[in-house]
Amino acid sequence: MHDAVAAHYEHLADDYDGNWAHSDAYVTWMNDRIAQWLRVRPGDRVADIGGGTGLFVRGLLPSVSPDTPLLCVDPSRHMLDQVPADPRIRTVHAGAEAVATGAASLPYDQVEAILVKETIHHVSDIAGTIHGLSQRLAPGGRLLVVSLPPRLEYPLFQAALDRFAANQPEPEDLATAMRATGLDTELRYEEFDVAVDREHYIRLVQHNRWMSVLFTFTEDELAEGTAEMRRAHPESILRYTDRFAFVQGTAPG
Ligand SMILES: C[S@@+](CC[C@H](N)C(=O)[O-])C[C@H]1O[C@@H](n2cnc3c(N)ncnc32)[C@H](O)[C@@H]1O
Repeated sequence: MHDAVAAHYEHLADDYDGNWAHSDAYVTWMNDRIAQWLRVRPGDRVADIGGGTGLFVRGLLPSVSPDTPLLCVDPSRHMLDQVPADPRIRTVHAGAEAVATGAASLPYDQVEAILVKETIHHVSDIAGTIHGLSQRLAPGGRLLVVSLPPRLEYPLFQAALDRFAANQPEPEDLATAMRATGLDTELRYEEFDVAVDREHYIRLVQHNRWMSVLFTFTEDELAEGTAEMRRAHPESILRYTDRFAFVQGTAPG
């Protein structure tokens, strides 16, 4: 993991889940969407790669038993430290690349389901990592990558939107990489309408730096950026659509 990214998640880990406290509805919606896509069945072996605090595996847990715990895999110990103690979850300290190449060993040779949510942009060799992860799938297994598209509709300041876009893979390229591994691949977008208190959102940006791209701005730049946001958005409730690409590949059965 790059030092700046590692530092970002160390900074964020203590209150990562708290950043979502304003939107239980979003957390529930995203958990439901992931569960619907991955169709985990009792006994399935599941890995959440870049799983962080495990906030988005809640919808999968009802299908998981302590005999085959879900693996929450992440290179940030601070993020893993926030994973709730639950016999159905086991944490693994590793990056996606190490899992993909086999340099990091998992308790299972193969898994029925892999989730990679809002993490693929941190990976150094995306196509190679997708290929390696696809090799870990059992017959009929699913690899689901959930990723924001480069162009966001967030009420952020322009420099942050541009810098985010520059580092974010195109969903179509993720689907192409997945198809190239031989997985039967589907790409669709899922949308959630957000309404958030403006001052809360500005705090998330300026103080919590809740997106890793915000960590690349100085305090002065963030102050300028949030002033720009206030000018562009005088309304007290900010409304926007959060749009996620769901790219899922299924291994031949
Ligand atoms: C935006 S957070 C997403 C966490 C979780 N998937 C979620 O949606 O709440 C990105 C996560 O990717 C992890 N990460 C960074 N580089 C990574 C890598 N090379 N491989 C796997 N995970 C990585 C970070 O530690 C962090 O937990």
